[in-house]
Amino acid sequence: MKTILVVAVGVVLILGLLTVEKRRDDVAGLAWAEEDLKLGEKIYQENCAACHGDKGDGKGPQADRLSIKPRNFTTGIYKFRSNPSGSLPLDQDIFRTISRGVRGTSMLAQLQLSEQERWAVVHSLKAFSKRFKEEKPGKAIAVPTAPPANPKLVALGKRKYEEGGCAQCHGSNGRGDGPSAEGLKDDWGNPISPSDLTLKPFKSGPNPEDLYRTLSTGLNGTPMPSYAASFSANERWALVFYILSIATREKPRGMMGLVGEEVEGMRVDMRAAMAGMMGSRGMMKQDGGMMNRNMKDMMGR
Ligand code: HEC
Ligand code: HEC
Repeated sequence: MKTILVVAVGVVLILGLLTVEKRRDDVAGLAWAEEDLKLGEKIYQENCAACHGDKGDGKGPQADRLSIKPRNFTTGIYKFRSNPSGSLPLDQDIFRTISRGVRGTSMLAQLQLSEQERWAVVHSLKAFSKRFKEEKPGKAIAVPTAPPANPKLVALGKRKYEEGGCAQCHGSNGRGDGPSAEGLKDDWGNPISPSDLTLKPFKSGPNPEDLYRTLSTGLNGTPMPSYAASFSANERWALVFYILSIATREKPRGMMGLVGEEVEGMRVDMRAAMAGMMGSRGMMKQDGGMMNRNMKDMMGR
């Protein structure tokens, strides 16, 4: 009798663990439960709709005052990905952007949200575009280990920068003032300028791997192409270290070290937090809400 009981308890435990495991898979994006979508939708309306619009079309009430426009999610076109040019993003890519933000823009790291809440909202963003039902995203492009930076590699990068036509847009000194820089538009019809590569912080992250990813994937919806086909892995690393060697200046920092339109993002977030004070979210939330945001974490990127 005792053995049966022990076995039964064992079976129940194992089944329990399996469910936990399966649940983790779900979070990574396989099946997605109704209740999680509901959570995502709520998170979206409270935290994102002010800029991205309640239908995900990028036309939220705050969009007009921003010069770098919030993404329109209905097209399924995402700049920040780890996979080939033209692909839909991977779930992890959307999650990374939500967690790290886009530096210099009003898109702040959404660290007032728990990990579960950030995954939930990934799925509500995908629900805005039917492309996610019809197409499969491409596989992530491998990011090999970075070779140690050295002057030879930087010199090779400088040569590739010239050969690759980067100067056409980014300018011969990387200042973003090349002959083709004027009058560029993104796929959503908004004006866009080639980045000034001498200025930190970069939009897509501070690490060599982030720049390598950008050069390999391109930024969909913008004139910034992918160089995965034209440059070898070593040449792309060379370009990365060349860019890092010229990125010696810092964008001016304002209040709390915020750069560019980040201050606009903070204003919108603060307002949402205030509105949520008495509700489920905001400063008074049990675990700290808005104040949960680790400033050092956010600014250290
Ligand atoms: C204060 C305005 C603002 C708020 C609030 C905001 N965003 Fe954004 N978001 C932006 C802007 C502006 C961009 C475009 C940045 C760029 O293109 O350089 C952006 C870009 C993004 C992207 C990048 C898509 C791509 O092309 O790869 C994602 C994903 C995103 N936002 C998700 C969210 C989610 C989810 C929330 C809410 C939890 C949110 N945003 C809240 C302004 C905002
Ligand atoms: C046809 C014009 C064009 C060409 C050619 C081009 N770029 Fe870009 N690049 C852009 C634009 C526009 C952006 C800004 C995208 C944005 O802000 O969303 C950009 C963004 C970038 C970024 C991202 C910076 C950040 O803040 O994360 C890097 C890095 C970069 N380019 C490097 C290069 C290199 C290296 C080459 C050549 C191998 C190159 N680009 C060629 C137009 C171009």
